Amino acid sequence: MKKKVGFIGWRGLVGSVLLDRMILKNDLSKINIKFFTTSQVGHNGPKINNIKFGILENAYDLQKLIEMDIILTCQGSEYTKKVYFNLKKLGWNGFWLDASSYLRQNSNSIIVLDPVNYNFIKKSIEKGCKTFSGGNCTVSLMLMSLGGLFSENLIKSIFVSTYQSVSGAGSNYIKNLLLEMGNLHSSVKNDLKKNNISILKIENVVSSLLKSNNGINNFPPLAGNLIPWIDEDDGQGKSKEEIKGEFETNKILNLSKSKKIIIDSVCVRIGVFRCHSQSFLIKLKKTISIKEIKSLLINHNKWVNIINNDKINTIKNLVPSMVSRTLKILLGRIRKSSFGSKYITVFSIGDQLLWGASEPLRRMLNILIKL
Ligand code: HSE
Repeated sequence: MKKKVGFIGWRGLVGSVLLDRMILKNDLSKINIKFFTTSQVGHNGPKINNIKFGILENAYDLQKLIEMDIILTCQGSEYTKKVYFNLKKLGWNGFWLDASSYLRQNSNSIIVLDPVNYNFIKKSIEKGCKTFSGGNCTVSLMLMSLGGLFSENLIKSIFVSTYQSVSGAGSNYIKNLLLEMGNLHSSVKNDLKKNNISILKIENVVSSLLKSNNGINNFPPLAGNLIPWIDEDDGQGKSKEEIKGEFETNKILNLSKSKKIIIDSVCVRIGVFRCHSQSFLIKLKKTISIKEIKSLLINHNKWVNIINNDKINTIKNLVPSMVSRTLKILLGRIRKSSFGSKYITVFSIGDQLLWGASEPLRRMLNILIKL
């Protein structure tokens, strides 16, 4: 019998990337899927490969949800908050698979990233775990990147600087960035055509425009700019995105307090459309050669690609545009740090909508439907 899967939030950015992947990998034929909606109850569901997927069900109708073996939601934390516990109270015993961060800290939930924690996932299912969350995008991408070092228990601590694309903040920010780019260009369009105009004059016009505006929809401008803060303020000098890094990594790896890996970061939003990049300074537990490190990294999973640490290869290949819409995990700038022989640097890039959000959920769905 095919499992009944209720899909909520399939029209958002993460949800639609996930649905596209499910179509590509023929996952829909393996399940009995029902599409739910928070805003268009009774409308027609999607038509995929000429197959109509029925009428959209109400995503708040607990009696409909309770019929599902698996609930897959990309609707966000507010939805999970409103529905998950009420459904549990009714005695629903299905699997909850969630892209949002709402249940990640819950002790009954497992954060899924099966190329890294498959054994932990398997044991948790055997013990009766029913709640699974996808990890934060930078955390999942870091674990996919450095999996070879984590699995060998070689990492003592990491400092990471992130360079996160605007699509991580939501689909509107892709539009905002394009509009900002257009506005900046328009402000100097005529001057750019003149041969004898000082570039500093042009720079002054765009910089003044950046200073004087609040971006679009009150989001600070990102074209020609960056924002070194992502998500909420904990009041102690850290952003929520930075706190997630250490907590979720240790939870995914199922490390006890005494074995905890120290991870500190500064998370930065930059004017890139898609793909998150991260620059790591890693303290290893022992001195290992770069050759051995590369071999551990590349052998961990088939998606890791190592770019040679030289100028030509780096500027051509170690860039977000080479990764966008692929499952590749690019690693480069791998070298010993001047901090000492146990310190190395690594720069990684991955598509945060794929490995950072939808792909771990799609793969987890496939694990669940085989049970
Ligand atoms: N928190 C991420 C970001 C998005 O703001 O880029 C998804 O995990």
